[in-house]
Amino acid sequence: MSTAAPDDVRRRVEELREQVEYHARRYYVLDDPEIGDDEYDALFRELQELEERHPELASPDSPTKRVGSEPVSQLTKVRHELPMLSLANARSAEELRAWIARMRGHLAREGIEDPAFTYVCEPKIDGLAISLLYEDGVFVRGATRGNGEVGEDVTHNLRTIKSIPLRIAAAPPVLEVRGEVYMSLPDFTALNERRAEAGLSTFMNPRNAAAGTIRQLDPKLAAERPLSLWSYGIGRVDGVRFGRHSEALDWLRARGFPVNEDVQVLGDEDAVVELCLGWEGRRGALTFEIDGVVVKVDDLELQRRLGSVGRDPRWAVAWKFPPTTKVTTLQNVFWNVGKYGDLHPFAALDPVHVGGVTVKLATLHNEEDLRRKDIRPGDEVIVTRAGDVIPQVISPAPHAVEREGRQAPPEPPAQCPVCETPTIKREGEVFTRCPNRMCPGRRWQLLKHFASEGAMDIEGLGEKQVDVLMREGLVRTAGDFYRLTPEQLMNVERIGEVSANRLVERIQASKDRPFGRVLFGMGIEGVGGVTGRNLAQRFRSIDALAAASAEEIAETPGIGPKVAALIHEQFRDPDMLALAEDLKALGLRMESEGAAPGEGVLSGKTLVLTGTLPDLTREEATERILGAGGRVTTSVSKKTDYVVAGESPGSKLEKAERLGVPVLDEAGLLGLLQSE
Ligand code: IVH
Repeated sequence: MSTAAPDDVRRRVEELREQVEYHARRYYVLDDPEIGDDEYDALFRELQELEERHPELASPDSPTKRVGSEPVSQLTKVRHELPMLSLANARSAEELRAWIARMRGHLAREGIEDPAFTYVCEPKIDGLAISLLYEDGVFVRGATRGNGEVGEDVTHNLRTIKSIPLRIAAAPPVLEVRGEVYMSLPDFTALNERRAEAGLSTFMNPRNAAAGTIRQLDPKLAAERPLSLWSYGIGRVDGVRFGRHSEALDWLRARGFPVNEDVQVLGDEDAVVELCLGWEGRRGALTFEIDGVVVKVDDLELQRRLGSVGRDPRWAVAWKFPPTTKVTTLQNVFWNVGKYGDLHPFAALDPVHVGGVTVKLATLHNEEDLRRKDIRPGDEVIVTRAGDVIPQVISPAPHAVEREGRQAPPEPPAQCPVCETPTIKREGEVFTRCPNRMCPGRRWQLLKHFASEGAMDIEGLGEKQVDVLMREGLVRTAGDFYRLTPEQLMNVERIGEVSANRLVERIQASKDRPFGRVLFGMGIEGVGGVTGRNLAQRFRSIDALAAASAEEIAETPGIGPKVAALIHEQFRDPDMLALAEDLKALGLRMESEGAAPGEGVLSGKTLVLTGTLPDLTREEATERILGAGGRVTTSVSKKTDYVVAGESPGSKLEKAERLGVPVLDEAGLLGLLQSE
């Protein structure tokens, strides 16, 4: 039993909660951290320890509760006090202007002639609407929109979203914030990569991933699938009055809620139309998906006068981007072989113009999806291409399902389409596989992957070149790349002497890539870019990794028991061991460079780099510091041991001087490193 916490512990806990939330906000909302990751971790751990030792101080609004709450058994229904509205659409400049004319007409009938509208234009985030309830500044409940009247309680998952404040200062007694929960594109891609590596089905798009995550019962799942929030409005609020929507957004921003920076207040109709038309070209530059622009009347009194028709407020409209989907006929379904033998369906289509290009081929996601949606050759299907995304078939067009005499549903082939080996389907996996490790389809994927940017990054070794080299019989495994000679290459179609020499040089130069990248490049199932680096950090050599047990592998950050077993199994495979030996004999880095964390002349030291150094690039300096066991963070604090400053150092140097942190120049850094 713990005795009641003394006041100083209570105070420290309060202080830590505030600090952790403050720094989380600087990091996640403002993207401008003041302290390094280590320092943040230290604060967080201290808080966690104090709360464990003094359970009576536990509180649901503690930042430590962001992942710690228990799974719920089912989602409970929540009735929204004020309904969550939807939006009418406008799809052309004429429809936008017609919306404004309707508002003027409505107000004129109310006796308000010629209202001076200002408009707030906001990106329309493609995610899920949610409501966040705060009582006396503490986040107490979060709910999905549901049907607008009744949603579901997803507080446990919303707590895991770091950009949602758990407690706000200077708060009214009741505050309901509304916004859109979404998954950013980088987080979406990384999640799908992790899932694919673990043999799980992937999500179709970020919206589906966010929707699938927010309704999970176990918050641990949500914590592993990072979601984000943009707040765009206030539902109920007691004791605060706003005159304008833009004022409410500023108020929210000042209280730590993430409000999108692209929100614009405009004074006239033409400017609104111009902005909406211009947005389409900019959407590709965002790190999250938007499907249009929401235009709202800024004046809240006018909003009230305008009211709604059914579910749609008169005072707002959704400008929708032109569709990036089209209907066309699915000619046939073919199957691709992935680098692990995984078969993926793709569609041959009647050519169709969509999203600015002509599409003839599109992915069909996976075989389960194909079956579930009952897509068959001959069907009219809906094809989409948004931004840079690869074209995909989403579903059969509505009437296709009723067609008579439909062709048979496409099934994964019984034999590999490349090497004709009988295919297999493993228990619990979503795809059928070609089990032949020497399958040329698989080898092509593996070799392409080895040379690709994220792995060994060998310029000039793209998919075409790999294909030619395989067909000429020059390359079969990754090691073969390093045995290529300029003479051999010159005999290959369309490669001249200069290019042959250059390619060989580039291949040889890639031997310098760090061990983690080699691990990733080897095409070990379950090992992505990040996992490769983590395994390299933890095991430090290929021999140690190959000898490790599944349990030991599972101790690596980011690797669960399933993936650990999968990695372990692959190192029992003679081909994998032969590849490792071959790469080692060829002189690739099969060990981590420099000191292990915790050893070396800079071990335990935290350094910050600022400005341009005379000789070393930022990356080189970082590598050297890491190699000597040190850490590099991005912001200066009392815990920084050295700031290394070059030309045009900026505010970090000032801060170092203010805090009395020693400042080195490049020569000083090199001197330190040499003392090793
Ligand atoms: S305002 C009038 N603002 O769009 C109140 N909604 O089609 C409607 N959405 O359910 C909400 N970004 O999920 C508003 N900046 C934004 C938005 C936004 C995305 C979503 C929201 C809403 C749907 C309506």
